[in-house]
Amino acid sequence: MERILSGLRPTGRVHIGNYFGALKNWVSLQDSYETFYEIADWHTLTTKFEDTEDLKNRIINTAIDWVSVGIDPEKSVLFVQSDVKEHAELHLLLSMLITVPRLERNPTLKEMIRDADLKGQISYGLLGYPVLQASDVLIYRARKVPVGEDQLPHLEITRELARRFNYLYEKVFPEVEPVLTETPRIPGLDGRRMSKSVGNAIYLSDSKEVVREKLLTAYTDPEKIKKDDPGHPGGCVVFAYLSAIGVSNLKELERECKKGGRGCVRCKRETASLLNEFLDPIREKRGKIKKKDILEILKEGAEKAGFEAKKTMALVRNAMKLR
Ligand code: TRP
Repeated sequence: MERILSGLRPTGRVHIGNYFGALKNWVSLQDSYETFYEIADWHTLTTKFEDTEDLKNRIINTAIDWVSVGIDPEKSVLFVQSDVKEHAELHLLLSMLITVPRLERNPTLKEMIRDADLKGQISYGLLGYPVLQASDVLIYRARKVPVGEDQLPHLEITRELARRFNYLYEKVFPEVEPVLTETPRIPGLDGRRMSKSVGNAIYLSDSKEVVREKLLTAYTDPEKIKKDDPGHPGGCVVFAYLSAIGVSNLKELERECKKGGRGCVRCKRETASLLNEFLDPIREKRGKIKKKDILEILKEGAEKAGFEAKKTMALVRNAMKLR
């Protein structure tokens, strides 16, 4: 079986954007690949280095969310990045093989500076974000990386680093390819990118009531004032959710909305119910997960991941003639 690695930062609770953009795909890949899924805690420090008070909890909650959507520890290696110290060693070695201007050209850097409100203060660690990510992928010699489109620049850097290493020393790393998700990125409640820091997210762990309340605040078509004004489902947040959940009569709803036959309030209520129906089994599963089981899963994951990482590092040191 080919090997897959992917990761997410433990920014807090997992939202439906994370689910439809990444986790859903991760779950379905578990049967046809050898899958490694990483909670990238060191990556959160690239922008939130002062804010570590709650990090341990965020890691546990992330793992709970992953397991509750169907990441199965029997099928996948679920682990925390900082539990496998070899990532840091590979990160250091790879950091010699890329120039500062190349990293400054990375288009996600500008986005991260803007999103984290860093006012142009880039740490050495943030500049190296894609190098750390490359080490995550390459240390498992994974061939495929399921990610959203926003991560493609990092994958390109991963490929460049692997090629450079293989050329300079010995062929240790395979060619890496992205596996893109089919669902387009779903918007947040206000129509912007769904993100914890913006406060426009619907979380997997939100209660029914919260989902209902949030849906009613969703951005509404400004040209649809009366309930029988024709709507524009193409740019509508609520329709994006309906389409992500995969409701069977989407086409019909779309037609109705365009004709002015669907009031937004009713539509939001119905969407909230459908979203709640979709979230119910996840909630139920979460209710059964115990913290001690999660700690056990992460411990086992760290051992399995560490075993593979050690093998690669032996090859890397040998190729580079290091000790
Ligand atoms: N940068 C990724 C994100 O923000 C998270 C990540 C860390 C990752 N390491 C990775 C993704 C390795 C894929 C492979 O979503």
